[in-house]
Amino acid sequence: MLSKVHSCALVGLDGVLVDVEVDVAQGLPAYTVVGLPDAAVQEARERTRAAIRNSGAVFPNRRLTVNLAPADVRKVGPVHDLSIAAAILAATGQLGDITENRAVFLGELSLDGKLRHTDGILPMVAEARTAGMERAFVPAMNGAEAAVVSGIDVLPVDSLQQLIAHFIGLIQIEPLPATKTTVDRSSYPVDLADVRGQAHVKRALEIAAAGAHNVLMIGPPGAGKTLLARCVPSILPPLGLEEAIDVTKIYSVAGLIPQRASLIAERPFRAPHHTVSHVGLVGGGVSPQPGEISLAHRGVLFLDEFPEFSRQSLEALRQPLEDGTVSVVRANYSVTLPARLMLVAAMNPSPGGYAEGGDSILADAARRYRRRISGPLLDRIDVYVDVPQIPYEDMAGADRGESSEAVRERVESCRDIQTRRLEPHDLRVNAEITARLVPELCTLDKRAESLLRDAHDRMGLSGRGHHRTLKLARTIADLDGAELIGPAHLAEALQYRARLDDA
Ligand SMILES: Nc1ncnc2c1ncn2[C@@H]1O[C@H](COP(=O)(O)OP(=O)(O)O)[C@@H](O)[C@H]1O
Ligand SMILES: [Mg+2]
Repeated sequence: MLSKVHSCALVGLDGVLVDVEVDVAQGLPAYTVVGLPDAAVQEARERTRAAIRNSGAVFPNRRLTVNLAPADVRKVGPVHDLSIAAAILAATGQLGDITENRAVFLGELSLDGKLRHTDGILPMVAEARTAGMERAFVPAMNGAEAAVVSGIDVLPVDSLQQLIAHFIGLIQIEPLPATKTTVDRSSYPVDLADVRGQAHVKRALEIAAAGAHNVLMIGPPGAGKTLLARCVPSILPPLGLEEAIDVTKIYSVAGLIPQRASLIAERPFRAPHHTVSHVGLVGGGVSPQPGEISLAHRGVLFLDEFPEFSRQSLEALRQPLEDGTVSVVRANYSVTLPARLMLVAAMNPSPGGYAEGGDSILADAARRYRRRISGPLLDRIDVYVDVPQIPYEDMAGADRGESSEAVRERVESCRDIQTRRLEPHDLRVNAEITARLVPELCTLDKRAESLLRDAHDRMGLSGRGHHRTLKLARTIADLDGAELIGPAHLAEALQYRARLDDA
């Protein structure tokens, strides 16, 4: 007897449909699985055998061959258990009349036949839908997450026993109602109104948030850098539904969606400590796991004490900051993960933050400290802003500043303007404008043009710096509702550019 059902594998963040074929033949009892790497085969065999027996079904005492195809798709993790068990039961006539060629079976089995919470279910169900599947059987604990995908019935399964009962007609597993996919407005732990003074930093953060530009704040300890950084999510527009699904896929693969939760609806804010490992930051591992930079996709990556991160980690940021993706290459795989993030970095001007004064040893140490941020990395920072110690009057005064909500409204209007201009190019925000599109989308008026010509040589702008300045100026002009970039917009953008001798 031969049977065939479908499962799904993950390549990076994308699902790939997998055929699971089972042949049961006469001969000495044997159980062979092909198409899985060695260690995974052993484990899948043990789990499916025990799960079938412990569900009151019969494990065939014959020659059993399971094939997972295509062979060249890497299949890691225990997600194929349910499809293997279902195919074995089908091949031995224990699932009734199963002609389920429009269904995928996903999930890890425990030895007693229960289905366990399994990572990566959302992208796999999305792929099953794209491949024309009509039903997805998934672990009940992943149900809410899977039901975010529309156009496919999601059937939550508690145990193998329940699945058998469903197929032989004893019970009926009902498809889940589609998860409500509105993205709620979030509440934020901190608000810009709580930050005293620092008006120019708030202005810089508003511009950065409006166009998703990268920021580096430099200032002495206690000036409010960390506080200001934590306010950034509160001035960003809420996640759109499509963005929320993209983000949720990443958290699904990373196993970071809380059980029974569905959509990640808040813009990510990731703040890894500077001791984070290279793999933890950029991603990798045995099976490709998203790192912090991918977990910050469509949100904020906050790197406090920026120069304290390892050189390897800092250099690894260069590609993602340019392309919005990160390539993770290992001996046995190579994947590209999304990492379209806004970098918010903070640092003291010198190690430990002491004042430099006239002491040349201290000044040297400070310079060496700042040089840990290499030129090419600094070149990818659009907004470089000083955060001075705040004067007594500002700190003691009773005025509360503008609320995050007021700032967010301006940021949202500015994003609407960007969307209208960028949608035909499949882009969302000014920071994403490609070098090729800069001349077309970031047009200067005559006076701004001559200002740029002067500044280019005087400031020693690199080609990249030139483009990045124009994109930032575009955002400043958009906040101002201006069609063309004028001299004032450009001048403000230039003022945020880090001069390499500052570093
Ligand atoms: N501008 C400010 N307005 C209000 N409180 C501030 C401000 N700057 C600093 N503080 C207070 O000092 C604390 C430390 O600030 P923090 O943001 O950690 O400084 P930094 O990161 O620059 O060392 C904050 O939690 C806050 O209570
Ligand atoms: Mg701090």
